[in-house]
Amino acid sequence: MIDIRVTSDPAAAVADLLLDVACAGGHIALSGGSTPKRAYELVSRSDADMSAATLWLGDERIVPADDERSNLRMVRGALTDRLPEERRPRLMPVDTTLGPDGAAAAYESLLRESLGNHPRLDLAVMGLGPDCHTASLFPGKPAMHENRRLAVGVPEAGMEPMVARMTLTLPVFNSAREVVFLVAGADKADAVRRAFGTPPDESVPAAHVRPGAGKLMLVLDEAAAAELASEAVTSPMRRAGKRSARGPGEAG
Ligand code: 6PG
Repeated sequence: MIDIRVTSDPAAAVADLLLDVACAGGHIALSGGSTPKRAYELVSRSDADMSAATLWLGDERIVPADDERSNLRMVRGALTDRLPEERRPRLMPVDTTLGPDGAAAAYESLLRESLGNHPRLDLAVMGLGPDCHTASLFPGKPAMHENRRLAVGVPEAGMEPMVARMTLTLPVFNSAREVVFLVAGADKADAVRRAFGTPPDESVPAAHVRPGAGKLMLVLDEAAAAELASEAVTSPMRRAGKRSARGPGEAG
């Protein structure tokens, strides 16, 4: 069952979840994208100790680390660089100098070294594109059918920025303890319905993110949820986290 929450501030709700898992020392995959970025900025405002956590990149653009399209640069700027060193989680960069396939092979080795041959992330934070891509799993591209490797190169992106990518694969996302999609805006409503409606559209990548032994949660704003049947919505977002990434006085 998909736990679907609708809230006026989905990024803040996901920031709370992220903070809880980070404070518990979890392994977390982060996505790129503008909506997730706001969640990371909110997490960075917390004064909690996240030093036991490990952050992975769910996907990366194959560009230098200081390129403005780099997800590593985004996560550093929005989150880790804002925290004092002693409270900062470990961030696992993708070595983009190796090219898409080399970067994927190296990242897969890192995952195996840290978490074994069948890695189980504690949390994967996912975005959703208007074409229903998630991470760098694009409709019609081979990466969405990968069922063995943990990370693969994506020589051609399906959407802007049109640079090669490396992405974690469905076996990794579907083994996670919890997967949370953070989606906002009316331009995503059709994608939300295709990926998570009843029945989902099997031709799109996000419809295949279904963690078998884990939880799947969607955190949406009203606009992104507009094309879902109202009975599908589990409940308004309760304050999921024990800690809050919001500052004092910031209402949810
Ligand atoms: C990437 C992302 C990608 C993103 C979605 C949603 O690196 O491109 O990981 O999957 O999360 O495209 O992005 P927005 O929130 O910006 O629409």
